[in-house]
Amino acid sequence: MTAITQSVDLERRGRVAVLTVNNPPVNALSQHVRQGLRDGVNQATADATVGAIVITCAGRTFVAGADITEFGKPPKEPGLHEVLDRIEGAPKPVVAAVHGTALGGGLEVALACHYRVGVKTARFGLPEVRLGLLPGAGGTQRLPRVVGVEKALQMIVSGDPIGADEALTHGLIDAIVDGDLTGAGVAFAEKVLDDNRPLKKIRDVEDKIAQARGKPEVFASFRKSVARQTRGFRAPESCIKAVEAAVALPFDAGLTRERELFLELLASPESRAQRYFFFAERDAAKIPDVPPDTPAKEIKKAAVLGAGTMGGGIAMNFANASIPVTVIEVSREPLERGLGVVRKNYEATASKGRLTAADVERRMGLIHGAMDLGAIADADIVVEAVFEDMPIKKDVFAKLDKICKADAVLATNTSTLDVDVIASVTRRPESVIGMHFFSPANVMRLLEVVRGAKTSKTTIATAMAVGRRIAKVPVLVGVCDGFVGNRMLHARGSQAEKLILEGAPPHQVDKVLYDFGFPMGPFAMGDLAGLDVGWRIRKGKGLTSPVADRLCELGRFGQKTGAGYYHYVGNDRTPIPDPEVEKIILEVAKAQSIARRAISDAEILERLLYPMVNEGAKILDEKLAIRASDIDVIWVYGYGWPVYRGGPMFWADSIGLKVIRDRMREFQRQHGDAWQPAARLARLADAGKGFLDP
Ligand code: 3HC
Ligand code: NAI
Repeated sequence: MTAITQSVDLERRGRVAVLTVNNPPVNALSQHVRQGLRDGVNQATADATVGAIVITCAGRTFVAGADITEFGKPPKEPGLHEVLDRIEGAPKPVVAAVHGTALGGGLEVALACHYRVGVKTARFGLPEVRLGLLPGAGGTQRLPRVVGVEKALQMIVSGDPIGADEALTHGLIDAIVDGDLTGAGVAFAEKVLDDNRPLKKIRDVEDKIAQARGKPEVFASFRKSVARQTRGFRAPESCIKAVEAAVALPFDAGLTRERELFLELLASPESRAQRYFFFAERDAAKIPDVPPDTPAKEIKKAAVLGAGTMGGGIAMNFANASIPVTVIEVSREPLERGLGVVRKNYEATASKGRLTAADVERRMGLIHGAMDLGAIADADIVVEAVFEDMPIKKDVFAKLDKICKADAVLATNTSTLDVDVIASVTRRPESVIGMHFFSPANVMRLLEVVRGAKTSKTTIATAMAVGRRIAKVPVLVGVCDGFVGNRMLHARGSQAEKLILEGAPPHQVDKVLYDFGFPMGPFAMGDLAGLDVGWRIRKGKGLTSPVADRLCELGRFGQKTGAGYYHYVGNDRTPIPDPEVEKIILEVAKAQSIARRAISDAEILERLLYPMVNEGAKILDEKLAIRASDIDVIWVYGYGWPVYRGGPMFWADSIGLKVIRDRMREFQRQHGDAWQPAARLARLADAGKGFLDP
């Protein structure tokens, strides 16, 4: 075995030279990997005793892409294009032997090889679009030549990988192999030599792209089919243009076009934000005083208390991850209703072809209903999702303390109550933690894990690990009113209420946020969620919200009653501005002597988002979030903040904290001290720094 570089070895197995990439953790194409591949292929080519070359990887995966940490830095030789030219242009067959994931530049390496084999569990994809990029090393030109234009468009624009079986069906790989992968790759290469098979260069393959030539409707209908999911993103359209170039231009001209589009995207604010977010999401898993080797408890059995809106969805998460879960209710009727909703949800997914009937039954089989807490005595984790009422929660936790096994994690899904108070009724506050799911709990990816004053590191490590296992994105936060996400949402919501009284109609406010990239604005959201929910909470706390209260008094609870801030016709969910509501707003404004005026979209955006940023700064000062990027992860996964704007803290940095601080001071003069810039915001603005600066 010869080391070509620190991360690429060359080994001889008879007539076959095996190049093995070993660049943990994911074999990204760092400079030394590119150099190792290029020089290794050169050496093997120059050696007359070598008949064929196999490229494979050590560790958990095939090459998972370009090294994202190198983006934005001065390029280092050799470039990936040169390496791929070398591979494809080699005069001897080159075979890629794939395990794990061949992603992005990794799949592009495999596509430059003459043959590809993979193990059954291997996955193949071009996820660059998720980083606001397109496959920039020939992926947009080679993939359509192999799998056809429609499949390539779907893979490149969604970024979703496909499995080995599908890859084989579409001709992306030549064989599925088992046993020792390197051995299987070598055996395949031997066979290519024995059979005297040609060097299959994808650049020369024409038939599949020829089928799409002169058919602009293929692209038009694809664009239409993805318009909704890709709204606001820049990369998807560039991906489509690059595939159009693959069809319209000769290979090398197509590569040049791909390169131009790639460089445009690389310099775009959208890609910068999305690359930032890739690392932000991974950083959220890192907790300085709870290192990765902190022992987490093994979770074999879960329990959920309450089968209401949240409990049912939470139970589904466990079942989806093959963890048996017992759901406890107070009586048979809510239990049956709750489990019925769960079944209906699964069946709806099955009817869309995303689950089989057998999957539905298997998952339902993992969910057991019960009315006696004794049924959860052996649960490793309990998630409480009963009514949001402190005396009830206290009663429930006192009982759990008596019944649950000594090392069980006791989690509460409370959204507004103090986790420390809940923990205080048990003799094991170290085992109590908040696990704040978002509605619908089986769909939304965010999980705020709420650390109480006495929560142990093991409990935190367990909650974070189980969160990931049930496919959530867990983010650790501290105890405060609303935790991180809802506390910031509240700051935005109170401004939205003020804006409609000052003269901006609800549909203008909503449109500003929709155009910014949110799925909907606060008023459409209120109508969707039901205005009566907040009304009940306000009444319980003796609070008012004059416009919303008036709407509720009129029975306008939102979509479910056909009217709220908007009105709705029949079953159509399109919000239609309503003169009745405008009248109510005018009356309330008059009663409060609020002078009305036209308000610009730009001001609306500042009024809605700057208070969120300010609240985020306070949250950091109060050490309720570990880092600014965690707040961004919360907003992207929990509230639909457009990922191509990074998150509120990243966005604030991109505007400049000085600009925001100065504007807030203007608002402070006009509207009062609620607008006072937070200490951290003022301090960073003075220093010319951002929240994310080291
Ligand atoms: N470059 C640099 N670092 C990377 C990386 C990459 N392409 N992919 C992953 N990493 C790092 C992660 O940041 C993480 O670091 P950390 O441990 O310090 O936080 C570590 O590798 C492990 O990553 P994950 O925690 O994500 O590990 P998983 O096992 O959960 O997932 C994976 C593995 C599926 C490979 C996932 O990491 C992934 O999706 N990676 C990105 C793949 C990608 O986007 N590839 C395209 C890159 S762009 C490109 O290739 C351009 C080309 O067309 C020119
Ligand atoms: P819900 O009212 O839909 O369901 C609560 C269920 O708990 C009811 O079915 C009730 O019968 C049951 N229950 C009451 N006491 C019980 C007990 N002692 N043992 C077992 N079951 C009992 O309420 P929802 O909306 O599901 O909320 C549950 C919790 O989740 C609350 O703490 C809420 O703040 C929190 N939450 C709610 C969100 C939402 O959007 N609805 C979002 C995030 C958190």
